Amino acid sequence: MLQQYFAPGRVNLIGEHIDYNGGLVLPIAIAQGIGAKVLYTGSPEVRIRSAGMKGELAVNLLEETFEKRPEAWMNYPLGVIKYLLPYIQSHTDGFDAELHTDLPVGSGLSSSAALEVLTAYILLNMGSRQSNTDGIQIAKLCKQVENEFVGVNCGIMDQFAVSMCKAQHALLLNCNSLNYQYVQFEPEGYSLLVMNTNKPRTLTDSKYNERKSECMHALALINLKRGNQPIDNLCQADFNWLGYIKEPMLLKRAKHVITENYRVQAAVNALEAKDWYEFGELLTQSHWSLRDNYEVTGFELDTVVNLSVRASGCLGARMTGAGFGGCAIALVETTKIGHFIEQVKPNYDKATGLSLDILVTRAENGVHIKI
Ligand code: GLA
Repeated sequence: MLQQYFAPGRVNLIGEHIDYNGGLVLPIAIAQGIGAKVLYTGSPEVRIRSAGMKGELAVNLLEETFEKRPEAWMNYPLGVIKYLLPYIQSHTDGFDAELHTDLPVGSGLSSSAALEVLTAYILLNMGSRQSNTDGIQIAKLCKQVENEFVGVNCGIMDQFAVSMCKAQHALLLNCNSLNYQYVQFEPEGYSLLVMNTNKPRTLTDSKYNERKSECMHALALINLKRGNQPIDNLCQADFNWLGYIKEPMLLKRAKHVITENYRVQAAVNALEAKDWYEFGELLTQSHWSLRDNYEVTGFELDTVVNLSVRASGCLGARMTGAGFGGCAIALVETTKIGHFIEQVKPNYDKATGLSLDILVTRAENGVHIKI
């Protein structure tokens, strides 16, 4: 029997570059994602093809040696299969999967996390989450695959969001304890826009790792002063401890992390109070901090955010994801979307020589089977 699975991309509303610093993040799953038509074959053979991607991943669950493939996309499902092998019956759990996606690759909407989580659900033949514990375990395993097998040093946010998000809600995740809660996200009268700068995210990995180690360095400096009361991650630091860091660049990095973590809590309070103006303002403040303190934005993201916040009907805007290109989001009065696009897109295109894609989105479900 043919089964159809779907794993969404994600947009992080606020809490950027926070997951690997042990703080709070607030992502939603979006309508765009990766769909899969799957036929279980009862054999040890796995075959995965993806429309628009080169080649076919072929794995024999009994004989595979898990050498990495030259086609980058294949290593995500291959890694997941490798790490899940101890949990399945390798002689009968094979399948044939045809993937199709409307998620732009490399645009900061987590196409890789979607592919990992999707593969895990297909391989485990889990139509939906059997339990929340399963969903969390899968997110953790997929992060491990990305860190160890694919070799990207990401945090847990993306895999957790793809696995655990819920429609009409944002997911408030504490990346240290992995405690989470759902916060209603249905901005009545307002719409969330995703704007793809179409700037390729070159240097993302190296700069990402650089930021990560700068945060470790800042943490070490704080702990040096804390003597026998060390903290485990930067998000546990008090704003007043910033004085322990004398090196200006590290001070800026830590300042972003600590203030961003506060902003996430403030954003949740604003959502609960349905205070959309405050929520929008926090989005914009987050962007300025990512631009000035964390330095991960760049010309294209700054241009689209500057144009957005000046457009009438926009309550706030910011980059989302790792930065250095990719996507930004904006909260806009629904009746003014047409006007907003007229004000932002032509000016962005003119300033950058690129073409801005804009779509309206809302909070959707995490990975699921389509009936
Ligand atoms: C990428 C990583 C995430 C997270 C964000 C920045 O999307 O995969 O783990 O660190 O960047 O918030």
